[in-house]
Amino acid sequence: MQRTLGTCYYPEQWTRDIWEEDARRMAEAGLTWVRIGEFAWSRLEPQPGQYDFDWLDDAITVLGAAGLKVVLGTPTATPPRWLVDRYPDMLAVDAEGRPRKFGSRRHYCFSHAEYKAECARIVTKLAERYGKNPHVAAWQTDNEYGCHDTIISYSDAARAAFRTWLRGQYPGPGNDGDIGALNAAWGNVFWSMEYDGFDQIDLPNLTVTEPNPAHVLAFRRFSSDQVVAFNRVQTDILRAHSSAPLSHNYMGRITDFDHFKVGADLDIATWDSYPLGFLEDRVGADPARQRAYARQGDPDFQAFHHDLYRAVAGCAPGVSGASGKPARWWVMEQQPGPVNWAPYNPAPLPGMVRLWSWEAFAHGAEAVCYFRWRQAPFAQEQMHSGLLRPDNVEAPGLEEARQVFAELKDAPEVPEGQAAVALIFDYDADFAWATQPHGLGLSYFGLVFDTYRAMRGLGLSVDILRPGTTDFAGYKVIAAPGLMHMSDGLKSALVAADAQVLIGPRSGARDEDMAIPLPLPPDIPGLDVTVAHVESLRPDMPIALADGGHVQLYREALQGSAAVAERAVDGTVAAMTEGQVTYLGAWLDESALLRLLAKACTAAGVETMVLPDGVRRRDCGDSGSGSTTPPSPSPSKIGSLRPPVSDARA
Ligand code: GAL
Repeated sequence: MQRTLGTCYYPEQWTRDIWEEDARRMAEAGLTWVRIGEFAWSRLEPQPGQYDFDWLDDAITVLGAAGLKVVLGTPTATPPRWLVDRYPDMLAVDAEGRPRKFGSRRHYCFSHAEYKAECARIVTKLAERYGKNPHVAAWQTDNEYGCHDTIISYSDAARAAFRTWLRGQYPGPGNDGDIGALNAAWGNVFWSMEYDGFDQIDLPNLTVTEPNPAHVLAFRRFSSDQVVAFNRVQTDILRAHSSAPLSHNYMGRITDFDHFKVGADLDIATWDSYPLGFLEDRVGADPARQRAYARQGDPDFQAFHHDLYRAVAGCAPGVSGASGKPARWWVMEQQPGPVNWAPYNPAPLPGMVRLWSWEAFAHGAEAVCYFRWRQAPFAQEQMHSGLLRPDNVEAPGLEEARQVFAELKDAPEVPEGQAAVALIFDYDADFAWATQPHGLGLSYFGLVFDTYRAMRGLGLSVDILRPGTTDFAGYKVIAAPGLMHMSDGLKSALVAADAQVLIGPRSGARDEDMAIPLPLPPDIPGLDVTVAHVESLRPDMPIALADGGHVQLYREALQGSAAVAERAVDGTVAAMTEGQVTYLGAWLDESALLRLLAKACTAAGVETMVLPDGVRRRDCGDSGSGSTTPPSPSPSKIGSLRPPVSDARA
């Protein structure tokens, strides 16, 4: 696989006379890809039905003539003002019932049928015009679904579409749906919430106290499906006109829609990596850790997403089929210097842009593109760096990109291989936790990320798997934390796997309709463990475990005849084991997780090492066999993201 670099460019934001020079400099720096167009609707269609593609024709020609390959974005994340004026009710509505306004981006509701038709229209125009253009080598649909909290909308359009969706979930005679089935599944007898028909069902906002969790979860699933449907309108059109691969750029820690389902309609999964922005904004680390990594980013956060999007890419058409097509994933936007949008925006240490690029390639990325080519002196992102300064002088990131390009020439292949350790990630579980966190700040993502961090701290490479996985062949350790709903198929497949399996906490805790199932959870075949009751804990009430580390934030009272694997000093049981399966009834802190995972690895014959904080390694496949047993660590496999003694920037 050829590894390449690229950048994000906005020809419409610059005067025509500098395009050639920009293109020449991009190519000279070793860039292959240039993504354009994703916010340009007001220039492509300045007035309804009046198109202006001349400038885009010209830009693509200029970029192509310089030897660059274009990723053409569909502009649907930025509907122009005239379109909002025409359809004022296309704006998404927040939980307080307030429409979001024009004046930034992503101001649309996924359920608005007329907006979707407008998107189909502009995408068709682009696809017809550029579908066979030799320089358009890939497409991007929209931009960062879900960024700025934009998946869930409480609009009239969403309410109407939700009712239709519910009829499909609880089918009845004709197209009417079975309202009795919905009432029973949701437990609507509680508080007299029963409905006589689907048209009585409102959206679960502005209720006096909390709405029925079954209602909320259904609405979250619906909202996710709306994104899949919205994206599919575009992919159907693009595929009809172009054979170039289709992509979307997902955003870190946005979990409000099922990326696996969107990914099943795309050829390349890409994501936008802003290590320093994320550190302040969404990693959720304690202040000391944030300070320590302020100029490097959290070493596990990027890696987690690289592994996640490799898994999402695995859903692409044909990838897991007989064709054996490799999963393709990129970093579409790599932070090139300081950003503007986090609470604090320090500059990265010299060398970090290069290191982040290499970290992505070490995880199997096919391309890394830097956002953006030139810093804009105007509008919202004036303080966001680019590879060039606003005055066209090179910014530090460009020299690092150039260095990566030079290094790529002699870099060895990074063949894909199966890791020994797997971690199951399920967006539906995230929806369920968000519906019912049970304690302030508890989140599925947080639990999974803690598990991932501990795995990486033990020097393990990790394959992230979808919840629909039933073939676990080759994995030696499998973790399935927090999967609120587990299908019977998944339970049986895990129990049958020839691996050490760690399930829980909160796995299998709810049925598909968000009710506590009977028999009580986790109800794993062959494992006599019952969760008798659960509690969430204040952050200042950790419970020490007898063998070290603590239970924190959440725990379950476990009963049954399985062997006790972990006990707290207060005598309560934190984990139970039978055969190769362990049920973990607690959210563990880092040291307890490291210990428990190391124990599972030892039992499975997987080598671990305790890596110092900030040092991480990743194994790649064997170029011969395509599968791996993790080899002994060699210094070349160890990359350091440790905070240096002094982080002062010259
Ligand atoms: C991303 C987005 C880009 C740009 C960037 C700034 O979320 O896709 O358009 O806004 O952030 O860091």
